[in-house]
Amino acid sequence: MPAEVQPSVLKLAQKLGLDIEEQNNFIESLLSGTKAQSAVVITPTAPKDYTPPFSTIPTDNLWGHPSILIPNSQDQKVGSHTDYNQGYYYPLDISSVWETAALNTLHQTPRRCLDLCAAPGGKTILAQTRLHIPLHIANEVHPKRLGILRHNLKRCGFTHLYTQRLRPDQWADQAPESFDLLIVDAPCSGQSLIAKGIKNPGCFNQSVTGGNAKRQKGILLSAIQCLAPGGYLLYSTCTYAPDENEKAMAYILKRNPDIKAIDLPALKSWQSQISDFPCYRLMPHQGVGAGGFCCLLHKEGNTDNLPELSDELLAWPVAQSSITQLDE
Ligand SMILES: C[S@@+](CC[C@H](N)C(=O)[O-])C[C@H]1O[C@@H](n2cnc3c(N)ncnc32)[C@H](O)[C@@H]1O
Repeated sequence: MPAEVQPSVLKLAQKLGLDIEEQNNFIESLLSGTKAQSAVVITPTAPKDYTPPFSTIPTDNLWGHPSILIPNSQDQKVGSHTDYNQGYYYPLDISSVWETAALNTLHQTPRRCLDLCAAPGGKTILAQTRLHIPLHIANEVHPKRLGILRHNLKRCGFTHLYTQRLRPDQWADQAPESFDLLIVDAPCSGQSLIAKGIKNPGCFNQSVTGGNAKRQKGILLSAIQCLAPGGYLLYSTCTYAPDENEKAMAYILKRNPDIKAIDLPALKSWQSQISDFPCYRLMPHQGVGAGGFCCLLHKEGNTDNLPELSDELLAWPVAQSSITQLDE
């Protein structure tokens, strides 16, 4: 075990409600650095009845989707085919697919979605693939990442979506109670990168996880202001730290009695053992990629008519050629 991660990883493993054997499995898988596992989403750009130029298996019935496939051999370089450049499929980590399984459980297709931390676009594409939401704004605060997001959405044929680059607090001011689905795929310490063999120095340090938790709570406090009564918020991260996961959710639930965490029967076997409300953690030794966390929140009430959105908020349809042009 590399010296720099040893004590903090051990400490983390002890906090996760795992028995000793599972703690050891977790640490071993994490430090193996071999848990990257990709999936591909077949996009609207692909021809009818398209099959990728590599062999695939379907995703699990419980948390997958017919348009999301797993390359049979993980040695496949899925990004090296012309079909990838054509946008016929979008590759992402299989844990991301698992993290959006909650969207399959919504009783009605949301009318409007705000995807607050959207670049490079994986969750946006997964949400559209699962739900075909009529009005979907993919928001990204980081200008360079916004460009990548727009490029990916356009290439893959999601041209009816909109993009934006507002901070979460600006959204709270400009679009209160305006969305019946919020997706917060939060910036996090990214501990699961280690399980993929990617260096991420300091990701287990309390100062790093604590700093991320603070930012996540801020984003979430703004996000819930944008949520219409009766709406849902999907929160996810790609880290294992309870501060950024269960504790961030507990913080929101405690301050908002009208918001509840929803049971997700499809993810029952991954239910977190360290919270008294339903939320789900995927660990690298469980065979579905490097791991992550998700929780679906529901705000009580219902809204027949969502408030109108201003023209500025809808100023950047993906179909429009470039943001630079729009800025001029
Ligand atoms: C985990 S990544 C999102 C991944 C994306 N949802 C996907 O599936 O491809 C988190 C994103 O949040 C953005 N971000 C960073 N700080 C933020 C903040 N304070 N408020 C909102 N977004 C932030 C980052 O630029 C990053 O693109």
